[in-house]
Amino acid sequence: MAGMRVTLGQLKAFETVARLGSFSAAADELFITQPAVSKKVRMLQEEVGMPLFEHVSKRIYLTDAGELLRRVCNEWLSTWSNFEQSIADLQGLKMGRLTIAVVTTGKYFVPRVLGPFCTAYPGIDVAMEVVNRDRLLERLARNEDDLYIMGVPPDDLDIDSDPLIVNPLIVVAPSTHPLASRRRIRFEELADQKFLMREKGSGTRITVERLFSDRQVPLNVQMELGSNEAIKQAVAGGLGLAIMSRHALNTLTGSDHIVELNVQGFPLNRHWYVVTSRGKQLSVVANTFIRYLHDHVKLLEPE
Ligand code: PGA
Repeated sequence: MAGMRVTLGQLKAFETVARLGSFSAAADELFITQPAVSKKVRMLQEEVGMPLFEHVSKRIYLTDAGELLRRVCNEWLSTWSNFEQSIADLQGLKMGRLTIAVVTTGKYFVPRVLGPFCTAYPGIDVAMEVVNRDRLLERLARNEDDLYIMGVPPDDLDIDSDPLIVNPLIVVAPSTHPLASRRRIRFEELADQKFLMREKGSGTRITVERLFSDRQVPLNVQMELGSNEAIKQAVAGGLGLAIMSRHALNTLTGSDHIVELNVQGFPLNRHWYVVTSRGKQLSVVANTFIRYLHDHVKLLEPE
């Protein structure tokens, strides 16, 4: 029994014969020949190992085994037809699930597109995880989400990364800072400033550290803080300068006490990428969301 091999076609043939009480009527309904129906039923019977029909004076009746199979068959066929319906719905995007993970800074812009996307596809259930780059890489390695949005894609994982929009990195200072009114500040002058840095594992932090080391300018770290919000508050409070995505600056509450410095080479235009595991079969929903993101990049731009 364990190795029983039956096909959906055999089950359909059997169910039709059982329902109509005739091989020829079943053949007509299924648009196949009568010998084809008989063959399917015979093969099914061989797999089951017991007769499914008995012929009594030219009429056919279900045996006990046939009766049992008919019940199971009805359940299978109805489950299968539900499945076919669900697939059709999915293709029509009437339902589905999308799980995305975005880096910390992504929370400032990805939700702006989620709103209209959810309105356009109300049957799609969206879950968005917000984590820093390190946590996001762990999720990516474990294949936990449909797609990822990040600024510094890894080069040691088998992924596809597709640039989405520009991620302008800027230098911010309290509005009372002496450099706030200066123009064309040289990058080297930043060596004299104290910086507030994101936590280890942050993509922004990796970028800032690489930048200073590439330019061979010492980076003077005043304090490490675990979020963009904490950094903005600390900058406003005069604790130091910071380099962050312009996306993170741009919040609904405004940031009156913080200004963008005019440093040569800034804004440093990097990108936000849509990252997917190479070889992962993306769902219809995930592909639709990716297309939607690209078609609505305007919504994502910092104001
Ligand atoms: P972060 O990542 O928000 O963890 O700093 C940003 C990035 O990946 O560039």
